[in-house]
Amino acid sequence: MEYLDMVLNETLRLYPIGNRLERVCKKDVEINGVFMPKGSVVMIPSYALHRDPQQWPDPEEFRPERFSKENKGSIDPYVYLPFGNGPRNCIGMRFALMNMKLALTKVLQNFSFQPCKETQIPLKLSRQGLLQPTKPIILKVVPRDEIITGS
Ligand code: HEM
Repeated sequence: MEYLDMVLNETLRLYPIGNRLERVCKKDVEINGVFMPKGSVVMIPSYALHRDPQQWPDPEEFRPERFSKENKGSIDPYVYLPFGNGPRNCIGMRFALMNMKLALTKVLQNFSFQPCKETQIPLKLSRQGLLQPTKPIILKVVPRDEIITGS
């Protein structure tokens, strides 16, 4: 379960569904010399932050170990934002994480997933508001008993 949690976190780092977050300034504010008048919309680029090489060594690589017990303490909660942050963050975060873990364990107990000739490699992402692939991800599903017995 610990490793599954690391895998989910790393998946959401590379593929944050909400690839940009937005906030509206409630009052005039100046941060680091940048003046933002009341009412202006500030965009937070989660996708870009999640792949910033200054924050993540080899950012394009899938490395669940980034989220190991030893490493996760050094992750800035305003750089890793798969569920947003602050008073308007995702209210379904715990529910979503639990469901993804349940679904994955149930499926992976019986099946393995492998790339096949229809699999789009490299995966192309669409420019829609919510992050999604341009085409559905097609994989070969192999029953695990076939892998174990080789039948
Ligand atoms: C993997 C699954 C999910 C991801 C990655 C996700 C991600 C997000 C993100 C990034 C936000 C914006 C947060 C912000 O602006 O700071 C958000 C908001 C929200 N999410 Fe999720 N979400 C997921 C699943 C769910 C589920 C299952 C529910 C409901 C059961 C849910 C309900 C909401 C609601 C109601 C908001 C708006 C909160 C507000 O504006 O106060 N989400 N989510």
